[in-house]
Amino acid sequence: MREFDDKSITQAVIARLSECQDPRFKRVMTSLITHLHDFVRDVQLTEPEWINAIHFLTDVGRTCTDKRQEFILLSDTLGVSVLVITLNHPARDGTAESTVLGPFYWEGAPDLPLGSDLAVGVKGEPAFYSGRVLSEDGSPLKGALLDVWSGDGEGNYDMQLPGDVGMKARGRIRTDDQGRYWFRSIKPTFYPVPTDGPVGRMLRAMGRHPYRPGHIHMIVSAPGHAAVTTHLFVADSDYLDSDAVFGMKESLVAKFHKHPPGKAPTGELVGTAFYTVEYDFRLRQATAAAAA
Ligand code: BEZ
Ligand code: FE
Repeated sequence: MREFDDKSITQAVIARLSECQDPRFKRVMTSLITHLHDFVRDVQLTEPEWINAIHFLTDVGRTCTDKRQEFILLSDTLGVSVLVITLNHPARDGTAESTVLGPFYWEGAPDLPLGSDLAVGVKGEPAFYSGRVLSEDGSPLKGALLDVWSGDGEGNYDMQLPGDVGMKARGRIRTDDQGRYWFRSIKPTFYPVPTDGPVGRMLRAMGRHPYRPGHIHMIVSAPGHAAVTTHLFVADSDYLDSDAVFGMKESLVAKFHKHPPGKAPTGELVGTAFYTVEYDFRLRQATAAAAA
């Protein structure tokens, strides 16, 4: 057949994959073409809408820099990122759940001793974090690594602050012989995802707010175990029920206990009210994770 109508076109495009040598790519492309064509037929896409979509995607690409990934933000705000993560890391047996990496991870945060203050010179109320990193069977993981980062108490990451302020509210902490970790930082607050680009325009057109609930990010890893990219969410934060990137998981909500000024768990004296938060991370064994 040399000519196609609005229905036969789909099979015709799929048929052109007959020489494709990569079975996985063939399956993915077949499904993508099927759903894309069904979508166009379903909404009876007009030509102005189609060209608008092309311009939008072009703009998303143009907004990307080495410090900003607007395509990931698009994926995040459409729930695709968390869908991929949830499919590939299903919740299991009380092991720490994964959630979005987000655009503010900065590789190479400093290795800091246990008990360090990650947030020297960072705006925000002090918070003391502690807990353990455990294997699935509950045995403590010595030397497990927590690569931690967050925004400040006003919702700004170091990368978003004017001027080149360098790394702030970031650090890598390793657990002690009993799998314990503790460090000081700040209590994170809710903040908007970047809205000054095409994804922001899309959110406004959809009538959506851009906010994420307060959270601190960590990548927790240990030898022989699957690393987990995760957050702790502040239990009393706004927007827990409407995270702009759908990354909220109930199992990652942690209570921040408020204390009057005085002696902190690290023994240091704190002149303002401060918070303590405790959370244990259970990691899957690497083989079990690969089989999941
Ligand atoms: C974040 O948590 O840092 C984040 C995640 C997804 C999109 C924007 C920000
Ligand atoms: Fe974040």
